[in-house]
Amino acid sequence: MHAAPGATGEFTSLLNHISLAIRIINSRVRSAGLAGLLGYTGETNVQGEEVQKLDAFSNEVLLNVLQRSGHCGVIASEELDEAIIENNHGRYVALFDPLDGSSNIDTNVGIGTIFAILRRSEPKLTPPTLADALRPGREIAAAGYVLYGPSTLFVLSTGQGAHGFTLDPSIGEFFLSQPDIRCPDRGNCYSVNEGNYSRWTPEIQSWARWVKGDGPAIGADKDGEAPKTPYGARYVGSLVADAHRTLMKGGIFAYPADSKSKNGKLRLLYEANPMAFLFEQAGGGATNGKDRILDIMPTELHQRTPLVIGSKDDVAAYRQFMVGERS
Ligand code: AHG
Ligand code: MN
Ligand code: MN
Repeated sequence: MHAAPGATGEFTSLLNHISLAIRIINSRVRSAGLAGLLGYTGETNVQGEEVQKLDAFSNEVLLNVLQRSGHCGVIASEELDEAIIENNHGRYVALFDPLDGSSNIDTNVGIGTIFAILRRSEPKLTPPTLADALRPGREIAAAGYVLYGPSTLFVLSTGQGAHGFTLDPSIGEFFLSQPDIRCPDRGNCYSVNEGNYSRWTPEIQSWARWVKGDGPAIGADKDGEAPKTPYGARYVGSLVADAHRTLMKGGIFAYPADSKSKNGKLRLLYEANPMAFLFEQAGGGATNGKDRILDIMPTELHQRTPLVIGSKDDVAAYRQFMVGERS
C-alpha cells in the first residue's frame, strides 16, 4: 500500500478482511470432524450439487466479512444463485468459491478456498450492477487460493507475481514463506480425471495417450528438446490441491469439456479465472484448449469452462493437440 501513491488503503483493508475470513474457515476446517461440520446440509446449490455443511459455513463467513468491510459493491459465490448487489459505492467485486474440493471434506484430503477481486469502474458515480462481475479475468486486481493441507497456505497475486504465505497457527497470522513463485517451463506430471476418457473428444484422447508415452513422440520444440513422456499421474480431485502441486512442480492440470459436461465442470469466474491469473503471474499458462482463459468474456455468473493450467510448454503442447498441430 505504501508503494502505491494516492492509495486509500481500501485494497489493503479488503485483503485483510479476506485473510480474517480465511483464518476463521481454517479453524473450522481443522476441527470440522469434532464440530459436527462434516456431512451435508440437505440442500442443493445452483450447481445442482449437494451442499456440505462446510460449504455453507465457509460461504457465510466470507459473505459476512466482505459485507461488513463495505469495500465490495458486488459479491458473488459458487453457493449463491444470484450475485449480491450492495447498496453502496464499494470499489470492488468479490467472486469466490468458499470451499473447493467438497467431495474430499469427509476424507480428510486437501481442500481450499478460491477468490478473485475486480475493480469497479467509476464506483463513486455508478451503482453496482451484475455487469461489474461479468468481466474478463485479465482485469483481475487480485486473486488467491488457500490450501487447507498439512499447513494452511495462502497463495496470492495482486499483479506483481505470485507469493505464498503460510499460517502460523500459534500466532494466527500468515507469514511470507514462498516469495515470487515460478512455475517451471515444463514438468513431468499430468493431472486429469481419466474416468472421463470415454467422454472426451478424439483430440483430448490423443493428448492423453501421448502424455502417457503411448503415441508418436512429438517433435522437439524451440529449445530443441521434446517433452519426455510418459509423465507421472497425480489427481486429488480438489482443484486447489491439484493446481498448487502443478504450480510448484510444473506439468499440467486439465479439466476438459466432455460429452456429459459440454463446457467442462469448473466455473470461469471463481475457479478458472483466479487460477489462470495466478499461473500466468508465476510464468505458467492457462487455456480452455484454444483460447487464453483470461480473455474469455463472461456472459453468466456461474458459467463453466474447460480449464487447462500448468507449465507454459506443457499447456502449449496440449493446445497443439486441440488445434490439430499435433496428433
Ligand atoms: P467444488 O468442491 O468447489 O464444487 O469444486 C470441485 C471441483 C474441483 O475442486 C475439482 O478439480 C473437481 O471438482 C473434481 O471433479 P471430479 O470429481 O469430476 O474429477
Ligand atoms: Mn471448486
Ligand atoms: Mn466449492
